[in-house]
Amino acid sequence: MVKVLEHYHLGENNYKIVFEVPELVKKAQPGQFVVLRISEEGERIPMSIGDMDPEKGSLTVIYQVIGKTTALMATLKPGEHIMDCVGPLGNPSHVDKKGKYMVIGGGIGIAPVHPAAKKARENGNEVFGIIGARTKDLLFFEDEMRKACDHLYVCTDDGSYGEKGFVTDVLKRLIDEGNKPDFILAIGPVPMMKAVCATSKPYDIETWVSVNPIMIDGTGMCGACRVSVGGITKFGCVDGPDFDGHLLDFDELTSRLRMYHQMEKESMEQFEKKQPCYIGLKESSKKSA
Ligand SMILES: Cc1cc2nc3c(=O)[nH]c(=O)nc-3n(C[C@H](O)[C@H](O)[C@H](O)COP(=O)(O)OP(=O)(O)OC[C@H]3O[C@@H](n4cnc5c(N)ncnc54)[C@H](O)[C@@H]3O)c2cc1C
Ligand code: FES
Repeated sequence: MVKVLEHYHLGENNYKIVFEVPELVKKAQPGQFVVLRISEEGERIPMSIGDMDPEKGSLTVIYQVIGKTTALMATLKPGEHIMDCVGPLGNPSHVDKKGKYMVIGGGIGIAPVHPAAKKARENGNEVFGIIGARTKDLLFFEDEMRKACDHLYVCTDDGSYGEKGFVTDVLKRLIDEGNKPDFILAIGPVPMMKAVCATSKPYDIETWVSVNPIMIDGTGMCGACRVSVGGITKFGCVDGPDFDGHLLDFDELTSRLRMYHQMEKESMEQFEKKQPCYIGLKESSKKSA
């Protein structure tokens, strides 16, 4: 059993949850993920590591309520327990010395770029961060990212905070101003990662992205998480989750993610009929992270 230490509603459907997992965080590295199971009969959900504190033994996950299991997770209160938290899984992100190292986080993808930015800076890089979201309420970790990066740029699609526009607009501007990065790590929705790769390719900037295919075991046995990279089949869980974005087949990833939509919708509808109370946490803990 794994104890919930903290749990906050961040805005819209976004939550920050902190688990007590002292042994796991001793080994965890930026870019890795965990697989959570809320209850014994519950499904396994992969979640990126948003932050970790080896001294406190705590691991932070930022998640979006999107279906049944994440809605169930949103009902948890500090002091309660989930069934298990397996990890760290997957390979760490490339955070070695590159020179001008850029992280780009879109939406919920701001969480996993945060530990990578911290580590890349510790490793002597000049770290540029771009974080973006649809609107102000969906932004989080701005203070944490300011500490982790040498330069931080914030944007929203609707202009409600920071610069108005997409993360790719900021990337293009920085390149035009002479701040061409030597390396980019971009994490966020698939269309965003695809757009970042399309922007960086003409400049020949090495660009890695973190994939989020359906994962079941997270250990390379079921094959659910397969993706194509440079025409070769790879498993997101054991070969990734980070891959060279200029080689990744984004269209295949998108269509594989849609495969279970009907079943996921039905499962959420049944959950909402049985347990409409997950809204309760949103109302009771409107405290910022
Ligand atoms: C390596 C990795 C890291 C991730 N990190 C985060 C994170 O930090 N924060 C966050 O909010 N989400 C993250 N996700 C996505 C998260 O796992 C899904 O949102 C979650 O599993 C949805 O479960 P559900 O029952 O609430 O929704 P469902 O209704 O079951 O599914 C809704 C959507 O979530 C995705 N999904 C569902 N099941 C899985 C699964 N087993 N594996 C992967 N995707 C699934 C699919 O796109 C699906 O259409 C990550 C996924 C991967 C693969
Ligand atoms: S999740 Fe089963 S092989 Fe990757």
